[in-house]
Amino acid sequence: MSGTRTFPPVQRFLQERYDEIADALAGPGFIILDNIFPATLTRDLVALIGSREDQLKRAGIGREGDYQLNDSVRGDAIQWLEAEDVTVTEFLSAMDKLRQALNERLYIGLSDYEAHFASYAPGAFYKKHRDAFRGKPGRKLSSVFYLNPDWDLTAGGELVLYDEAEEQELVRVAPECGRLILFLSEDFPHEVLPARYPRQSIAGWFRVKP
Ligand code: OGA
Ligand code: MN
Repeated sequence: MSGTRTFPPVQRFLQERYDEIADALAGPGFIILDNIFPATLTRDLVALIGSREDQLKRAGIGREGDYQLNDSVRGDAIQWLEAEDVTVTEFLSAMDKLRQALNERLYIGLSDYEAHFASYAPGAFYKKHRDAFRGKPGRKLSSVFYLNPDWDLTAGGELVLYDEAEEQELVRVAPECGRLILFLSEDFPHEVLPARYPRQSIAGWFRVKP
């Protein structure tokens, strides 16, 4: 008899991939994970951002005093996640378990996670930027979870990660539903390319305390 084979492959969700994620963050510093949550949770998050579309507010750049809307830099509309809804709570709780798992494996002292829904209208983009600057407390690990069922791979809207020197493109990530990308916030300048269709996601950041 031939060896046993599992087919189709068993779905491995986030909580079964902590070691792999920690290794990747220690290694290249980023990882792309597909179908990382049960289909029901992903589907409920897609429905939720759909129902919130008219509550999202144009995102700004800068902090407090110098906060400004700037169409030439970013064109997304956002709403911060609050644990007021079972679906959001389930998502936040999964990300919090990931936070603890990474702390145990990498000793990086992630203290909390903040995240917002983001919606880019057709043609909207987010120019090359960094989520954090080296040596400053705050955002350490960036996450983006994509919520676009049946995404057309010719539609644009990729996330592009660059090397530290901003000279070389490292990877292009299509915003396909159920896909999660994690990358070290200080190490990868990145941009969102414009798309022909609306592009939705949850962008989030694991932070360290000052
Ligand atoms: C951000 C960001 C990437 C994406 O919100 O800071 O870089 O793919 N988002 O949506
Ligand atoms: Mn960013």
